[in-house]
Amino acid sequence: MDKKVVNGQKEQHPQQPIPLLTPYKLGPFQLSHRIVMAPMTRQRSYNDIPQPHALLYYSQRATKGGLIISEATGSSETWRGYVHTPGIWTKEQVEAWKPIVDAVHAKGGIFFCQICHTGRVSNYGFQPNGQAPISSTDKKLAAQVRNGVVVAEFSPPRRLRTEEIPDIVNEFKLAALNAIEAGFDGVEIHGAHGYLIDQFLKDSVNDRTDEYGGSLENRCRFALEIIEAVSNAIGPQRLGIRLSPFANYLGSADSNPEALGLYMAEALNKYGILYCHVVEPRMKLIGEKFECSDSLLPMRKAFKGNFISAGGYDREDGNNAVAENRTDLVVYGRLFLANPDLPKRFELNAPLNQYKRETFYTSDPVVGYTDYPFLESNA
Ligand SMILES: Cc1cc2nc3c(=O)[nH]c(=O)nc-3n(C[C@H](O)[C@H](O)[C@H](O)COP(=O)(O)O)c2cc1C
Repeated sequence: MDKKVVNGQKEQHPQQPIPLLTPYKLGPFQLSHRIVMAPMTRQRSYNDIPQPHALLYYSQRATKGGLIISEATGSSETWRGYVHTPGIWTKEQVEAWKPIVDAVHAKGGIFFCQICHTGRVSNYGFQPNGQAPISSTDKKLAAQVRNGVVVAEFSPPRRLRTEEIPDIVNEFKLAALNAIEAGFDGVEIHGAHGYLIDQFLKDSVNDRTDEYGGSLENRCRFALEIIEAVSNAIGPQRLGIRLSPFANYLGSADSNPEALGLYMAEALNKYGILYCHVVEPRMKLIGEKFECSDSLLPMRKAFKGNFISAGGYDREDGNNAVAENRTDLVVYGRLFLANPDLPKRFELNAPLNQYKRETFYTSDPVVGYTDYPFLESNA
């Protein structure tokens, strides 16, 4: 337990838990702490089917009253943009998720399924019958280059026709119903990071001239129609959304991220959904943290439900964010990936395992996945 004043953090009474370890009522869910496991793609779901090794991975990270958000999980066959990522549009996938969800529940965890469509972050090879990926636009995403080497190539997408959009909304609704059928406590709609929904939200990508493009209201329409459809299907208190208005991932940036974030936060109030989960402005680029003056506070203030912040948090920063009421819950990605017992380590202020970036997305069912050590006393 902390007793010292560390960088402005308040002195803790020995009996008093750190802010991150205080309970929180998240709608119908009683959380015992504020440390949430981030959605993280691990590319170990062979042929789009969640595998038995995911049971161990998620249950290792489950705690009584702790919230876990699953890796991005596909809403339909056209969602694919990566190998070995799970889906939730077939009966087989639903059945494969069930024991994984049960294992998290057996430890008292609360488990939300993140539902995603990659849109144009795909290529012909991933699509049924080699067709073009769908998007808000027909502008192609530039190839991803790392250290001068092309690591991913994308095909020119096909701009969805206005009359096709209700079908895509419906796919999200069916996927959400499937997630509930699999036993998940709720779903998170992935509206962040340059994937399909973000391709509608951001004006650097969305060049439509119909009612889904142009004004802020029009660009947010697709996301809000999904929220409305899913909320009507499974109930608003089982629904959250993830947004990253400030991020510039996968060619998806906005010329006025403050206005976009604020518009979404206010518009979401109408639906009474459980939470709004937002990626910190400092995470402008994938996996890199930049200090910046932008803030999530206006969104936090505008949104009437529960607020969740993600991106670049450590123990101290997370404690401060909760203590200063900048957020209700704090999401941890890489630290949770490498520390299956992260809440226990934060409680004890114990040293952390370092994450190994090179095994984030490798397909091995154990290495870099379920072999990160627990604290000795906690093994
Ligand atoms: C291996 C890995 C996979 C990720 N996959 C997803 C994903 O499926 N969905 C998503 O919304 N974000 C994904 N992210 C982003 C994380 O949820 C999180 O926002 C990011 O890692 C920043 O938080 P951190 O600094 O605590 O790691 C991923 C991050 C990592 C490291």
